[in-house]
Amino acid sequence: MTQSVLLGVSGGIAAYKIPFLVRLLKKAEMNVQIVMTEAAKQFVTPMTLAALSENRVCDNMWEDDHQPSVEHITLADAADVAVIAPATANIIGKITSGIADDLLTTVITAIRCPLLICPSMNVNMYNNPIVQRNLRALKKCGYHILDPEYGFLACGWTGAGRLPEPEIIFEAIQSALSPKDLLGLKILVTAGPTEEPLDPVRFITNRSSGKMGIAVARRAAARGADVTLVAGPLKIPVPFNVKLIAVRTAQEMYEKVMAFFPQMDILVKAAAVADFRPARPRDSKMPKDELDKALQLETNLDIIKAVGSVKKDCQIVVGFAAETDRPIEKAKKKLTKKNADMIVVNDVGLPGAGFDHDTNVVTFILRSGEMEQHELMPKEKVADLILDRANALQRKKP
Ligand code: CTP
Repeated sequence: MTQSVLLGVSGGIAAYKIPFLVRLLKKAEMNVQIVMTEAAKQFVTPMTLAALSENRVCDNMWEDDHQPSVEHITLADAADVAVIAPATANIIGKITSGIADDLLTTVITAIRCPLLICPSMNVNMYNNPIVQRNLRALKKCGYHILDPEYGFLACGWTGAGRLPEPEIIFEAIQSALSPKDLLGLKILVTAGPTEEPLDPVRFITNRSSGKMGIAVARRAAARGADVTLVAGPLKIPVPFNVKLIAVRTAQEMYEKVMAFFPQMDILVKAAAVADFRPARPRDSKMPKDELDKALQLETNLDIIKAVGSVKKDCQIVVGFAAETDRPIEKAKKKLTKKNADMIVVNDVGLPGAGFDHDTNVVTFILRSGEMEQHELMPKEKVADLILDRANALQRKKP
């Protein structure tokens, strides 16, 4: 079903980013209804936003060609999620005080859907105690606040106040739309490859884009979990609402996972950990005629196995197995060997599955002997299914 976003634009310079946000929402096949304040029109034209949203832009309570007395209610009722971006100090103050003196503030007073507010302004305005008090009050009302970023501001100051990039606002909208069924759960996710240095310019690694682990972290955070992500070197962005612990080697990943795991309810171990590391890495670049002699390897610790041996009954551990032949048979062995509760297995040879793709084909293998086979689907959907399963297993525990 098409989801409807009510996008409120107030009068800040960052309104120039909103056409890009509208493009992202339309690309995701969402219906976008824009409501602008008078001041917003100084920064971005209604014509631009109407063309991109493929909808009439609403900016006036008193137009003749529709029913002025009820339009604010119709707009509010039609929204699955409402967003104000950029949200100026003025509109934040008005919403906090319950003022409804133009179309946007009137619609916002009437909504029943989740509301995401994206403050953006000069750093001193943002730090103003009244603005901060208002934001705290709005949070208490259950509204989502996307904190502004730190950086160079249009006014010449540097500090907190920048509107986050459209991709991040898009992600925050997805998050506001998601049911919060994982609220209260602490989830540790590992993602990406590890790199094992041989010298300052060479390393051994495993093939991994990190997309599957990132999808799990993103969906878990969107569904309300408190997510810690231990990630090897990644070339893709990390979700804005997870705690990132960046590592390079398997040893570093081991240390971080072992430090965080005791506080966690669920561990999803999607990282492609390198099984070996050079036994004697050098501080300076090795001449190539010495490489063959220097390539002596040591085995890395099996992180998931180490976790399995300290795991409490109430904790759930999900491992992965990316295989090229006899995937189910191999994954079943890994489930026992690694003392995991579930293994997500994928045959990386199948079209659309495994490395670099945005889709995957997976089978879940559980301790109970159950097996769940899934069709080709986006990694975000696979992530939701993994989280549904892990959550159900966790709930069954004492
Ligand atoms: N894993 C781990 N630590 C390692 C290696 C793997 O925690 N040193 C985890 C991975 O994150 C994954 C699972 O173990 O969840 C399976 O990884 P895989 O590489 O398929 O398993 P291996 O035990 O290395 O087996 P193989 O002989 O197939 O490489």
